Amino acid sequence: MKAAPAIIWDLPTRVFHWLLVISFALAWITFDDNRYLFAHVYAGYLFLSLLVFRFVWGAVGTHYARFRTFAYDWTSVTDYLKGLLSGKASRHIGHNPVGGWAIFIMLTLGLLIGITGLLVLGGEEGHGPLRGLISFEIGTGSKEFHEVFAWIMLVIVIVHVFGVIGESIVHRENLIWSMLTGRKEDVLEATQVRGHGLLGVLLLTIVFVSALFYFRGYLIETTDSPFQPFRGPSLPDNATWRSECGDCHLAFHPTLLPKRSWQLMLNTLDDHFGEQLEYDVETLAELKPFLIENAAESGLTEAAHKVNRSIASDQTPLRITKTKYWVKKHIGINDEYWDNEKIASKTNCEACHLDAEEGTFEDSGMRLPNIKK
Ligand code: HEC
Ligand code: HEC
Repeated sequence: MKAAPAIIWDLPTRVFHWLLVISFALAWITFDDNRYLFAHVYAGYLFLSLLVFRFVWGAVGTHYARFRTFAYDWTSVTDYLKGLLSGKASRHIGHNPVGGWAIFIMLTLGLLIGITGLLVLGGEEGHGPLRGLISFEIGTGSKEFHEVFAWIMLVIVIVHVFGVIGESIVHRENLIWSMLTGRKEDVLEATQVRGHGLLGVLLLTIVFVSALFYFRGYLIETTDSPFQPFRGPSLPDNATWRSECGDCHLAFHPTLLPKRSWQLMLNTLDDHFGEQLEYDVETLAELKPFLIENAAESGLTEAAHKVNRSIASDQTPLRITKTKYWVKKHIGINDEYWDNEKIASKTNCEACHLDAEEGTFEDSGMRLPNIKK
């Protein structure tokens, strides 16, 4: 049998590999800024779905894609490493022992990242398939794990890339190119696998169409009706509160301050930030329970939890904009914005938050207005 270029990596495996790279990179680019949470979550869904596919393909796929062809024991790993050090590591058509281990570790870490991501999304953000099933605390707790796993994964990815480059040099073959074309030079034709081109194209098409579907809101949004990808829960509402407390400014939802703050505010109506407020007994009888029952302690939104946690127990702030959480979230906003007439005041929440009226203050509802025009 002659030695010629042969297909080693079928198309589904290659599509999986490069889409995994793309989704991992997208997740890193978008993790830091809550405004990109929607894209980060997309990257996560894609990442997890790809892993699920890979586990199936590892069982039923073509020869080199199957897990059992690269499930090496530890001795093979040490032998391979010794070989590398003495400059005569044996060439493997499929994954070498170290590469095989790296892949199993990455697949496992990937699953852990995906699962903890779903926990954060469900618990802390109140979205995704686990919404309503897990507590806020579990959600925030999972975030630490999510991040640690992601960092470990990044380290392994870097090791993997160096491994691939190293092996390419040692054996004088471009392994990155192989993962693109699926082919390797100088292998026995008998080792060639089926390309499964149709399945590969199908995978690509599914990912492309679902991405279009997921992001369709951005494609059809207009300046008058901006797209808000995640909608918060529908919060308790009250007509009296809306009309009385929304008279001079946005009716700030009760979830934005703790009970004691609303209590104090209602007790000091004669000096409400320089204004004198007067309500009859009936109005007060409606305002008071509405404000108290739905205060930050209710934990109805992410902001409620976080505002509440950021206030020391011996403090009773009357301003949302003076709470530690609010300050932390807005400290990065340039003075240019605060000085601009479109915003004018920190309390003008609706200038930047599409859902200020609803009181949900979702990450994805933030849109800094265009102050250049
Ligand atoms: C007559 C006008 C008026 C009415 C009615 C009014 N407020 Fe205010 N409120 C103000 C002014 C003025 C400020 C200070 C705004 C600023 O600094 O930008 C303020 C500030 C606030 C703030 C602090 C905002 C922050 O975080 O800096 C809260 C909370 C608030 N009002 C709640 C209420 C509630 C609850 C009611 C209904 C019971 C209410 N207001 C009714 C005039 C009013
Ligand atoms: C000048 C625009 C602007 C104004 C005005 C503004 N915000 Fe924000 N707000 C932002 C931006 C931008 C962020 C996102 C910061 C980040 O990326 O973490 C944010 C974040 C938040 C968050 C955190 C959301 C989350 O889940 O991470 C809350 C809650 C919030 N704002 C509440 C308010 C309230 C209440 C007001 C009015 C009293 C207000 N904001 C006024 C721009 C604004």
